[in-house]
Formats: sequence, C-alpha cells, structure tokens
Amino acid sequence: MSHTDYIKSQEELDLLLSRPSAQLLESIRRFSSPLVIVGAGGKIGPTLAVMARRAADAAGCALEVIAVSRFDATAPARAWLEQRGVSTLCCDLLRADSIGQLPESENVIYLAGQKFGTGKSPAATWAVNVVASARLAERYAGARLVALSTANVYALSEVAKGGSVESDPLTPLGEYANSTVGRERVLEFFSLRDGIPLTLLRLCYAVELRYGVLLDIAQKVHGGKSIDLANGYFNCIWQGDANDLILRSFSLAHCPPTIWNLCRPEVFSVRSVGEQFGELLGRPPRFAGSENPNALLCNSRPLCDKLGEPSIPLAPMLRWIADWVRRDGCTWGKPTGFEVRDGKY
Ligand SMILES: NC(=O)c1ccc[n+]([C@@H]2O[C@H](COP(=O)([O-])OP(=O)(O)OC[C@H]3O[C@@H](n4cnc5c(N)ncnc54)[C@H](OP(=O)(O)O)[C@@H]3O)[C@@H](O)[C@H]2O)c1
Repeated sequence: MSHTDYIKSQEELDLLLSRPSAQLLESIRRFSSPLVIVGAGGKIGPTLAVMARRAADAAGCALEVIAVSRFDATAPARAWLEQRGVSTLCCDLLRADSIGQLPESENVIYLAGQKFGTGKSPAATWAVNVVASARLAERYAGARLVALSTANVYALSEVAKGGSVESDPLTPLGEYANSTVGRERVLEFFSLRDGIPLTLLRLCYAVELRYGVLLDIAQKVHGGKSIDLANGYFNCIWQGDANDLILRSFSLAHCPPTIWNLCRPEVFSVRSVGEQFGELLGRPPRFAGSENPNALLCNSRPLCDKLGEPSIPLAPMLRWIADWVRRDGCTWGKPTGFEVRDGKY
C-alpha cells in the first residue's frame, strides 16, 4: 500500500484519521442505532466518532452517532463533531443527575479517563477511572461495551520477552496505573454480574501529528533536547488504525470480557527512532543515559491475528511527523511522559 508523502494541514490529517476501512464498512452494517461514544471530548473521541459517521454513510446505514463528554465550553471538539454529522451530549459521569440523560443504546464505546495531574490530585483520577466506569456500566447493563484501557496496567516487562501478554499479572507502579486496573476490575465486575458483553482494549500509545510518543521524540530532536533512554523501547499505533480497530472490536465483546493489547505488533527502540528523526530533520539526536533491560511494552499479536495488522507502518509516520515538526504544525502540548518508569504522572 502506498502512503501519502506528507500531510499538509489539520483538515487533511483529520480526514486520514477518520477514514474507515473496507472491513469497518462491512461490520458497521450490523450496528443498531444509536452508537454512543462516552468520553468523546479528548484526543481519540473526535476522529473515532467521525470515522463511525463516515463508515455508516458509506455503507448506506442510518446510524446515529452520539458523542458524550463534559465538553468544556472552551473545548472546540463539540462544534467540530456537530459540523461533521455527529450528535453531542454534555454529561459528567461523576454527577448522578447527569447519568439519567444518557440515551438508550445497544452499542457503547467507553473512552473516559484521567492520567495527567494524578500527582497533584490523585482522588480525581481514581474517581474518573473507577467511579465513573461503575456508573457507566450500571447505566448500560443491557448494551455491548467496548472500553479503552491502557498498557499502564502492566508492570515493566523484559524487552527480550516482546511485551506483556494479556494474562500477565496487573501489578503496576503508581496511582494512575493502579486506578486503571481499578477501571478494568469494576467493568469486569459489572460484566459478570449483569451479563454485559465487554471488550477491554489495552492501548499502548496512539500516535498522530499533534500528540503521541513519536511527536515527543521528534520535538526533542528538533529542539536539540536530550532524549532519556532509560525507558528505551515502546509500542505505538497510528490513531486512524486504532480508531478502526476500536470500532471493529464490538465483534469481540463477550461475557466474561475479552481482553486485548492494542498497538502495532513491533517493539520500537527510542534510540533508533531518535536517529531516524535526526536524519529526517537534519539534526543529530542527543541521548541521555542508557536502555534498561525492561520497559512498558505490550504484545499485540492476538488482536492482530484476530482483526488484521494495522495499516500504517512506522516509516510514513516518521516522515509525516518530521515534516509537521519542521513546519511548526499545530500540536496539543500534551506530552505522553513516555520516559516515566516510576508510575508518577
Ligand atoms: N491516547 C492514547 O495514546 C492512549 C493510550 C493508552 C490508553 N488510552 C486510553 O484511551 C482512553 C481515551 O484516550 P484519550 O487519549 O482520548 O483520553 P483523553 O484525551 O484524556 O480523553 C478522555 C476524555 O474523557 C472525558 N471525561 C473525563 N472525565 C469525564 C467525566 N466525568 N464525564 C464525562 N467525560 C469525562 C474528558 O473529556 P471532557 O473534558 O469533554 O469530559 C476527556 O477528554 C483513555 O481512557 C485512556 O486511558 C489512550
């Protein structure tokens, strides 16, 4: 498959991130309306919701897509979604009176979560990741659920092992990571108690041009800043591929829940990616420290075998991001903290 040489604008980027695959057009025909996406105001929700809209339109089905979030008045996501044919609804899952406004649905994607700021207000992180998840599962006891989780549920694993597998123990460091174990456990509890078919997806670094681990490394190379090698390996997946797989994973929902790591199948080296950005940007990368034998890693082979390999390999992602950084393209100022090894976010 050939990939566009460069991505010139945010409009072009959003079109790419929300382009549905042929497999998604096939599976979206089986969705009953509406599709509800909760926690849709963040980094993933907008292009995911628009991909569902585009897939339904292209497949000729009358699927309403409803994006639910708190939608802070200053956040542009709400208008952006409405302009693209996605209905929106304001709801704070932590307010009991708000839950009653959630629409009936048989297909719900759950994206709400909190990571950054945990160090300053750990209570808020636990409330969003655990309490809100319990409320969501109680409200949608009659639906199929696809819920996003994270690779942070795992402890660091030996690089030579090729990444944590889904059956590994969930013994991470730090309050954020432990609250995401809590999120999984309460969703699992309600799934088992109420017979809810549930897919849990442990995502390991979605990437695009405005955020993600690749952007973080590219910006350091471009700015002449040193790149910490202590957490020297990582996984990632193009945001558009992640969106496509999230939408297609309703077919995996089951009670008891099924659990899948979600990323490209390769393990990438921070040093090697830094060097490749160095070539693309014409600036030598600067490194600090050296690689440890373990890192935060996932093995996504089971999901790739089940739903197919993600379509965008590393090379075009590096080329697009290097070009974007060189041209000072818009970014969201949300670094991933990929260097973190002590669980403190
Ligand atoms: N992006 C990644 O690379 C990545 C990697 C691993 C795992 N994940 C998981 O994937 C999920 C989505 O990722 P993301 O990057 O889109 O996260 P995000 O940018 O933090 O978005 C999550 C959204 O949830 C909404 N939310 C939070 N509390 C809420 C509440 N009480 N009621 C209603 N909505 C609430 C927020 O939007 P409002 O402010 O509009 O409410 C927030 O923007 C997260 O749960 C995360 O754990 C993402």
